[in-house]
Amino acid sequence: MKFFVDTADIDDIRELAETGLLDGVTTNPSLIHKSGRDFFEVVAEICKIVPGPVSAEVVATAHDEMMREADILRKIASNIAVKVPLTIDGLKTCKKLTEDGTMVNVTLCFTANQALLAAKAGASFISPFVGRHDDIGFDGMQIIEEIRTIYDNYDFKTEILVASVRHPIHVLQSALIGADVMTAPPAVIRQLFKHPLTDRGLEGFLADWQKTGQKIA
Ligand code: G3P
Repeated sequence: MKFFVDTADIDDIRELAETGLLDGVTTNPSLIHKSGRDFFEVVAEICKIVPGPVSAEVVATAHDEMMREADILRKIASNIAVKVPLTIDGLKTCKKLTEDGTMVNVTLCFTANQALLAAKAGASFISPFVGRHDDIGFDGMQIIEEIRTIYDNYDFKTEILVASVRHPIHVLQSALIGADVMTAPPAVIRQLFKHPLTDRGLEGFLADWQKTGQKIA
């Protein structure tokens, strides 16, 4: 499963990229706002740090205007994935862009039927928002299972990019279901490394090593 980080914070992206485990980045207008940075400047910087897909979202709602914005976004770098919302205009835009060879991430997906439409529109990635589903009392991961089944039934090549990930259990469930990608905030990715028994075990080993008085040199 590929790991994308869901942020526009350059320091976090740089630090996680250094682990060698980062396959891409997703941004959205809210994350750009949170970064306090100029959209084009920050996205261009991210594209240089991470060679994998970097999602940058259009903000137009009408197809023609989305196409105009997408044209500007895809010129930022060759690893840009244009993010479009799951609307009729968004999917029209998705179809045109992918026919042109541009990567497209269809966002704001909340049902398996929507994911089916995105795959038919040739989306490179579909982003179902699991956390926002959980927030309103539904099981977001159930949608991921349904999408996996549908995509496998018809051999769709669209990658399932689990978004709105809130905790490590979402990551575990995504991997068990066989999602292609998950995008999580930096804090959730850092949590994946952690276990109290790892920390305690390491402390014990280091204390005992110290007692041997030896050095690895
Ligand atoms: O980038 C889209 C998605 O991951 C947003 O997550 O936490 O705002 O629901 P969240």
